[in-house]
Amino acid sequence: MARRPLVMGNWKLNGSKVFTKELVAGLKAELADVKGCDVAIAPPVMYLAEAEAALAGQSVISLGAQNVDVNVQGAFTGDISTEMLKDFGAKYIIIGHSERRTYHKESDEFIAKKFGALKAAGLVPVLCIGETEAENEAGQTETVCARQIDAVIDALGVEAFNGAVIAYEPIWAIGTGKSATPAQAQAVHAFIRGHIAAKSQAVADQVIIQYGGSVNDANAAELFTQPDIDGALVGGASLKAPAFAVIVKAAEEAKNS
Ligand code: PGA
Repeated sequence: MARRPLVMGNWKLNGSKVFTKELVAGLKAELADVKGCDVAIAPPVMYLAEAEAALAGQSVISLGAQNVDVNVQGAFTGDISTEMLKDFGAKYIIIGHSERRTYHKESDEFIAKKFGALKAAGLVPVLCIGETEAENEAGQTETVCARQIDAVIDALGVEAFNGAVIAYEPIWAIGTGKSATPAQAQAVHAFIRGHIAAKSQAVADQVIIQYGGSVNDANAAELFTQPDIDGALVGGASLKAPAFAVIVKAAEEAKNS
């Protein structure tokens, strides 16, 4: 089964009202003709309203968010719910990003709860996983990725990955300019798909596995030649419309030729 690639921009803690309007306008112009790749942007939640308004009238670019909370309503100061994200038309929701695991001490179990909340709400989880540089050097990459995936499988069953997205983001590659090589990334992606296939081949065949970590307009095309790399989660290079557009078009080209 051919998987439709997904390229998603993770804006992190960047932007303003004006920046959001301008970047979305630029993306709409650059990406108007894209057909063979799903595209999403995850601005800071503060700017979902601006992004939703700016995206109106097109269907190429979907809206996303960078986090969600497990509770739907009530006395949870500072939290943002699945229903609120839906209210703004957000569809693809990043969870388990290494920056949240590190700075907000989010555990595998807590992230699995977020995964469940998103599935219950009909939203698409984009589950970030990946190892630190020390874990990589200690040969623990597969163990770490398996543990992070198993937390979801243990809580929700392997079928939870139907219609979901995994972003493999080696932490040593995030924001460092030091992307994993296509062969390195492919090896881990194949491991991840195989790990899921051990529970369900059908689920493994359809799950989208993005690569993330210093993807840019110069290295994207080669990454997308790898069979188990189904797109990218892009940080820094998603803040400029021309660079992000090159990455989207590289995925479209590589996966439809
Ligand atoms: P980067 O970030 O592309 O700036 O390395 C990727 C991410 O953290 O999602």
